[in-house]
Amino acid sequence: MDWGIKNRLSRIMNPQDRKGVMLAVDHGYFLGPTERLEDPKKTIEPLLKYADSLMLTRGILRTCVDPESNIPIVLRVSGGTSILGEDLSKETITTSIEDAIRINASCMALSIFVGSKYEHQTLNNLSKLVDEGEKYGIPVLAVTAVGKDMARDARYLALSCRVAAELGAHLVKTYYCENFEKVVDACPVPVIIAGGKKLPEKEALSLTFNAIRDGASGVDMGRNIWQSDRPVEMIQAVRSIVHDRLTVEQSINSFFLTKSITSNELETLNTR
Ligand code: R5P
Repeated sequence: MDWGIKNRLSRIMNPQDRKGVMLAVDHGYFLGPTERLEDPKKTIEPLLKYADSLMLTRGILRTCVDPESNIPIVLRVSGGTSILGEDLSKETITTSIEDAIRINASCMALSIFVGSKYEHQTLNNLSKLVDEGEKYGIPVLAVTAVGKDMARDARYLALSCRVAAELGAHLVKTYYCENFEKVVDACPVPVIIAGGKKLPEKEALSLTFNAIRDGASGVDMGRNIWQSDRPVEMIQAVRSIVHDRLTVEQSINSFFLTKSITSNELETLNTR
């Protein structure tokens, strides 16, 4: 692997443990102002120091992140359809490699929609982006999105991750599922998991723990962090599971139960 690609990857995946906590705030590229991400600057700022990297579009990066902050950037470079559009899988490459270089991106992220109407187009996007990334030493994260009618099971997710790796992705994002180790074992590059829709905090931490236990190299997590009522504690707890191998209980004890917590908050945390 090219030196530049290895070097940039080491900025987003800690070389000590080969794990990473990627804070995802790119949701607006097709959802618009998602709940609790209406003012991205306000959402991002308190979380930044606990993330290994930040995943977002160039528009939010330029307007909401201080260029002097040293956070490695995973730049989303695919899109082109909104939630109101014809088909979410109809994506194209939306950002040039020159802009990714200007931004000093540590990685470029692009969605592929295996099994969807625009499968071919999105796989073609990935191949082209890998070619561009290889030219300039910028790794590519393939975001394996789920086609509307496809089950998020190990067979389908393993297929998507493997296709992404075969086309040259350096890192793959997928979802956690039963028999997740089969997904990881069949993919020759590191696999990280998305958090998905907001879950009760304890469930999201269990998801993180199980994924790491079953071979994930980290998380690309958004809503389960910044839609929590305690986002700073949540990202620290996720981080402690990914990097320090804390159990779910230990992470809750360390970050949620150390400060005074109202009985209502505790109730919410344990039962939501
Ligand atoms: C889709 O909107 C993006 O790729 C997200 O960055 C990714 O799904 C991770 O975010 P979340 O944890 O909210 O699913």
